[in-house]
Amino acid sequence: MSIRRLNHIVISVSDIEISTRFYKDILGLELVSTLPEQNNWKEMRFFRAKGKSTNHHDLAIIANATLPSPGWGQPISPGLFHVAFEVGTIAELEEYAVILKSANSFIDQLYQPMHLSVYGKDPDGIAIEIIWRIPNDCWTYSDLWRAPLNFEEAIARWGATLKTGAAAGEST
Ligand SMILES: [Fe+2]
Repeated sequence: MSIRRLNHIVISVSDIEISTRFYKDILGLELVSTLPEQNNWKEMRFFRAKGKSTNHHDLAIIANATLPSPGWGQPISPGLFHVAFEVGTIAELEEYAVILKSANSFIDQLYQPMHLSVYGKDPDGIAIEIIWRIPNDCWTYSDLWRAPLNFEEAIARWGATLKTGAAAGEST
């Protein structure tokens, strides 16, 4: 079991339109997807290196809010929202869920159309995400959603040892 690499970061921003212009029009990243505000999550926008990255997203921004973000336990203020690390298999992801729980660092586990995600907090309360990349041909960009992650169902669908992302040789 090991983390393969950093996969993406999410930044909380004070003005999502201004930040979109910065990352898209000034830095030249590709805006690949938008997650409308839902289930108390503020609007999110997802970017990747245009024409270069095979990742679903390399960077995301989330609209700043003074409202609490459920599951995370604290208001979102401008700055780092979370850092995501990638593992190669669902079995490894499940092991990290156990490790985070035993370290009292576990926040949540979610099934999203591009990742299976386990969220935790580092000792300073900075959110981290451990992800397993769902096979690229299953990804969606126009219909993003979050659902509870059930490891048994995920393993029944993809298998515990299917390698994706860096573990499968993806360069990004
Ligand atoms: Fe993430």
